[in-house]
Amino acid sequence: MKKIVAVNASPRPKWNTAQLVREAAQGAADAGADIEVIDLYKLEPFMGCRSCFACMTERHFDRCAVKDGLTETLDKIRGADGLILGSPNYFGRPTAGFRALYERLCFQHLTYDVARLSSNERQIPVLFIMTSNAAEEAYSALGYDAMIEEHVQTLGKLIGPVRTFVSGNTLQTNRYDTFNWTMFDIESKQHRHEEVFPAELAQVRKLAAEMF
Ligand SMILES: Cc1cc2nc3c(=O)[nH]c(=O)nc-3n(C[C@H](O)[C@H](O)[C@H](O)COP(=O)(O)O)c2cc1C
Repeated sequence: MKKIVAVNASPRPKWNTAQLVREAAQGAADAGADIEVIDLYKLEPFMGCRSCFACMTERHFDRCAVKDGLTETLDKIRGADGLILGSPNYFGRPTAGFRALYERLCFQHLTYDVARLSSNERQIPVLFIMTSNAAEEAYSALGYDAMIEEHVQTLGKLIGPVRTFVSGNTLQTNRYDTFNWTMFDIESKQHRHEEVFPAELAQVRKLAAEMF
């Protein structure tokens, strides 16, 4: 049975990203996979790459040698047949937690050897999900398309072929009335959350079922 690891890199375990990640994992389960969903921010403390280069030595080759809250997740991904990675957009990028995982996951497979840039001999499909306040139509102007493409390129070289799924203009809170958030059209956000977001959950589930 295929094993699919799904990582929610939002600090919020029940909101937009978490729901999309869980639904995508369900899609993989629909296709017969064994799934495991990990909420990154519930793990024990972890850090990004420390540039120790242990993963480039014979002893630890191709494997991050740092032991912390991320080690078990990296091991699970190593044994997986597919990976779902979901993150909110924080200041134009995935979250800090995502970045720590991304650095450690990818750098362990990088070689700096011109003959072979990746030491990963087991490529697995990756579904990269991003949520944001910005609507999808604004992605190009904001540089978010280019940012996503960077991730697609890096993950594509070091982990495996990538598909992406974006959910924009998300509902950020159910307490808009308690904040002075004049930047947002709250009714339209609420409407989108009720009318469009459920369809996106179904779409991402279908996409994952096709991928894994
Ligand atoms: C620290 C922080 C920074 C954010 N920066 C951006 C941003 O630059 N662009 C954007 O479109 N949304 C931004 N957002 C909004 C989130 O990306 C959006 O609400 C997302 O759907 C939240 O995901 P979640 O509901 O899964 O936690 C930011 C939110 C936070 C908390």
